[in-house]
Amino acid sequence: MNVLGIETSCDETAAAVIEDGTKIITNVVATSAQMHEATGGIIPETAARQQIKSILPVIQKALISDVDAIAVTVGPGLIGSLLVGVETAKTFAYLWDKPIVPVNHLVGHLYANWLDTSTLPEFPALGLVVSGGHTDLVLIKGHGKIKWLGGTRDDAAGEAFDKAARLLNLGYPGGPAIAAEATKSKTKKQELKMFPRPLINSQDFDFSFSGLKTAIARQISNKKGQISKDRLAAEIQQAIVDVLVKKTIRAIKKYKPKSFLLAGGVAANKLLRKTVFAKIARQKLQVIVHVPPTALCTDNASYIAACAFYNYKPNKWQKITANPNLTIAD
Ligand code: KG4
Ligand code: ZN
Repeated sequence: MNVLGIETSCDETAAAVIEDGTKIITNVVATSAQMHEATGGIIPETAARQQIKSILPVIQKALISDVDAIAVTVGPGLIGSLLVGVETAKTFAYLWDKPIVPVNHLVGHLYANWLDTSTLPEFPALGLVVSGGHTDLVLIKGHGKIKWLGGTRDDAAGEAFDKAARLLNLGYPGGPAIAAEATKSKTKKQELKMFPRPLINSQDFDFSFSGLKTAIARQISNKKGQISKDRLAAEIQQAIVDVLVKKTIRAIKKYKPKSFLLAGGVAANKLLRKTVFAKIARQKLQVIVHVPPTALCTDNASYIAACAFYNYKPNKWQKITANPNLTIAD
């Protein structure tokens, strides 16, 4: 079964055709990230206007074969952006008389772990979704059976990277920029202790990243350039990774899942990927770690189509609506 996925929840305009939820036939992404670089973040109105221009050429490029169904991200995300994808998908469902499946973007991210892999995840699985707008730890008992264990109380992990990058004038998106700057640092991992690790020892599965932004701003204004930018980038990255990994390990020990699935834009972070594997191996935890290919971590439509294949609940196109406030457990 070939599914056409359409994704426009943030600043990307993406379309992909996926066979049987696992094989990528095409995957096309247009991003307006450069447009947002000047402003250090996304301007929703600008993003949506660009998406209106990109959506048809992107879909046209992705559609090299016939499709059996259409999958579209209905939320969460920016309302103007979501509407571009949702209304376009509904129009095609009507014109082609094809089934249309609404997809939750956050659940969708997890399905990047089903693509282009020889080992499919097994249930129960623990999932950590770390993106620009969300940080959620979930227990997945089966397709469509998701229990929320905890998440951020304020800023998302990706947002912490983005805000830190803005403070350090490293551009947007901040995650890759901080990661690249951090590689220049010669400071040993054990010495990267400048910033707080909020809630790291709390027994719940909650996170809090907003304090990091304040701590970085204070360092910059107090030390007035005495600490190098690469050191600050390495410190920020280490602080975020430490907390994410600590809570993940705690959840693996408590729930003993068969698989652990990393997902979302921040899952592209090399240090995070490496640290998860290293900690799980060192503690000899019996869990198989899945990380998506780096290019499939950040927003694209491949995992939206894969998610729809495994959670195949078509609805009448008239009933499909954008919902910017969806949560991962909806
Ligand atoms: O999932 P995503 O593409 O979009 C949302 O759904 O939000 O995630 C985007 C986030 C941004 O905050 C970006 O800075 C972060 O993912 N990101 C990274 C890396 N690549 C993207 N963060 C850390 N390291 C990276 N290599
Ligand atoms: Zn995303």
